[in-house]
This record gives sequence, C-alpha cells and structure tokens, in this order.
Amino acid sequence: MAAVGSAVGLGNIWRFPYICGKYGGGAFLIVYLLFVFLLGSVLMMSELVIGRRSRRTPISAYASLAPRRQRPLWIGFGVLCIITCFFILSQYLVLSGWTTGYVWHSVSGALASMGTDAGVIADFFRHFSTGGWSPVWFMVLFSILVLIVILGGVQKGVEMASKVLMPVLVLLILVLCVRSLTLPGSIRGVEYLFSPDFSKLTSEGILAALGQALFSLSVGMGVMVVYGSYLPADDRIFTTAMWITACDTLIALLAGLAVFPAVFSCGFDPAGGPGLVFCVLPNVFNTMGAAGAIFSVLFFLLLLVAALTSAISLLECLTACITDNGRLRRWQGAAIVFVLSTALGAVFTLSFSHLSGVKLAGLSLFDFIDRINSIYLPPLCALGTVLFFGWVMPEADIRAEFTNNGTVRLRLYGFIRFMARYVAPLALLVVIITGIGG
Ligand code: PHE
Repeated sequence: MAAVGSAVGLGNIWRFPYICGKYGGGAFLIVYLLFVFLLGSVLMMSELVIGRRSRRTPISAYASLAPRRQRPLWIGFGVLCIITCFFILSQYLVLSGWTTGYVWHSVSGALASMGTDAGVIADFFRHFSTGGWSPVWFMVLFSILVLIVILGGVQKGVEMASKVLMPVLVLLILVLCVRSLTLPGSIRGVEYLFSPDFSKLTSEGILAALGQALFSLSVGMGVMVVYGSYLPADDRIFTTAMWITACDTLIALLAGLAVFPAVFSCGFDPAGGPGLVFCVLPNVFNTMGAAGAIFSVLFFLLLLVAALTSAISLLECLTACITDNGRLRRWQGAAIVFVLSTALGAVFTLSFSHLSGVKLAGLSLFDFIDRINSIYLPPLCALGTVLFFGWVMPEADIRAEFTNNGTVRLRLYGFIRFMARYVAPLALLVVIITGIGG
C-alpha cells in the first residue's frame, strides 16, 4: 500500500491529463499504456527484486549484487539514481506547494466564489502561481508536513494515509467523473481521450509517454529499490508489482475522465499545460452548487494526501541513501534532504515569478527541470536498471526472489526475463536516442 501511495500522486491527477492533452490525447494514451505494462511493470519488478535481494539502498544495492570488478561503475549508477530522485523531489515540491495553496483557497471560499467563467478561474491560477513568495510559503508548509511524517515513523503515518485516504480519493474522483461526463458537450472530451490521432504523436510525445510512465509508477530512480528492501520475504513480487501498476493506471485514467470532458465542456484548451487541473476542476466544482464547495475542499485535501505519500517516498529514499553508511543519524539525514530540496523547490517555484527571466537552454527553470526529470534522467536510470537486472545480477538470485526461494511458481518468469534482457533495453535505447535526436 505504501508503494501504491508512492505511485499514485500528482503524476496521475495533475501530470497525466496535462501531458496527455499536450501530445494529442488518444494516441498518446495507447503509447503510454504500452510503456506502462510492457516496460514500467518489468522495471517495477526489477527494482523490487534488487531491493529485496540486497536489502540495501540504491547506492549500495547495485554494487553489492554486481561482480567485484564492476562495483565502482554500479556505485556511480546508484549515485545517478539518487540525483534523479533529488531533482524529482524538488520539482514535486512546487506542485505540492500549489496543491497546498489550493486547499487553503478552497477552505477560504476563494475558489467557490469565482463561478464558472473559465477566464476568471484561469486568471486566478495565473495570479496564484506567479504570486512571488506566497506559493513558496505553501511549499515550505508542505515540506514540513513531509518531514514530520518521516521523523514520526514512516509505518504509522504512511500506512494510515495510504490505506484509509487513498480509497476515499478514488471515490471522489469517481464522483468527479460522473459530474464531468454529464456536463453539456462532454462527449468531445471522451472522444479526445479515446480516439487516437497518430498524426499528433511526435517523437517528443513518445519520449514524454515513456517519461510519464516511469514518473507515474515511481520507477527509474531507486524509490522502489528502497521499498523493495523493506518488503517481507514471503511477499510475491510479481503480484505486488502488477497491483501497483494496475492501481496507478486506473487512477490516471479516471483522472483523465474527470478532466477532459470538463475541459471541452467549459471551453478550456486541452493542451493548457501545467495549470490544467488547477483551472478545470474548480470550474467543475462550481457547477455543483453548494455541494461543490465541500467537494472542492475534500478533493484538494485528498490530492494533498496523494502528493504527501509520494513526496514521503522520495524523501525516504534519499534519507535512507545518505544515512546508509551509518555516519549520519536518520533525523540528520532527513533534515539535510529537507533543507536542500526545499531550497531548490523554492527556486523552481519562483521561476514562475521573480526568476521568470532566468532561462536554461531557452526554457524557464521549471520547464527545464521538467524536461530533465521526464525525458533524460529517469529513462537513463531505467536503462541502467534493466541492464543490471537482465545481464549483471546473478540469475539464481532473480529466480529465488520471484519464486520466494522455490516455494511459489511463476509461469511468466521466462517472459519477464526475456522482456528485461532484450525488449526493455532495446526499447529504452531507441526511445532515448530518437528523443534526444528529435
Ligand atoms: N509516482 C508519483 C506520482 O505519480 C511521483 C513519484 C515519482 C514519486 C518518483 C516517487 C518517485 O505522483
């Protein structure tokens, strides 16, 4: 459940609809689903196997399972994974800060008072996200919450949040889907999501689908290695990985169904970018009368919880990594990660306002890190992981993990091994090369 909590987050509800909208809806969806089930699930299994076999954090996990000669290489790879994790956390904090802000604005009634004028709601978002230090304070508040859970014991906090609140979130998204689908003209949104138009799918779109699949499943940066290292010996890795993958995908699809029909009905642009969810959903709530205000508060609170369980997994991974050698205490490690990631998160938040003039490779700081975090670093880490899993790690260890030391059978073992050795590395390589070239 904690791993589901890590996978299900802003990636499903905020990022999936906006990326899907940007790259043309249905065609993107097909490529995304292929990546999720053929590549993402294999990666999820690889990371869980590596974690549980080594019972270590990414920095030492790969090295401890590799032949002696190759160890320095795999330590370097572990470091690359945690750098990726750190960048992802810093970017994640920006959106989490916005989410925290929206909790506040729905409680204060500001969102409910705007009616259903798409322009007014979009302006509100623009004003909020470019509002200088105000979104930064919301982000700091969120980071403090994450730190409290990490310090106060992961098990109670994360487990409680995942077990009780996640199902409530799903229920609420279902309500939103019904509302969104019954708005006038909503059918165009369903068509947009489910009827593929491959002419809109560029090589950048394919790379974005891969990046989104990895991001959404929390793979390709070592988080699942850490969670795998906490997994009980009798847990079935295949079943666990498939459950996480299925839940994550279902929630992304539901989020798409809640957002796109409303996008078309209310006259928003489906390629509206990072603000999409923050503009569209308040509009849907405002069509629901007095109940809408309550739904709005509930929804943003639960979105906050979803963001929290994901951010916790990132902070947990980084804390575990830097305290692995025993020199730092847990609270010291957590505090260091907290300070550094919050500081970088503040810089990215301010890239919408005070730092909007600062450009890297022609992109704003946020767009730059978004690109690094979706199309460069995670695919690279994913490639390293499948190569390690398919070609470096001893096969006996892999088989032992999948069959729980020979006590359970896994019929698909040969297929998974084939995917991990040949299909996944080749597909990743092709996508990375064409993406970078394109
Ligand atoms: N999977 C999370 C989401 O969908 C984000 C995340 C990425 C969490 C990587 C941990 C590691 O929101």
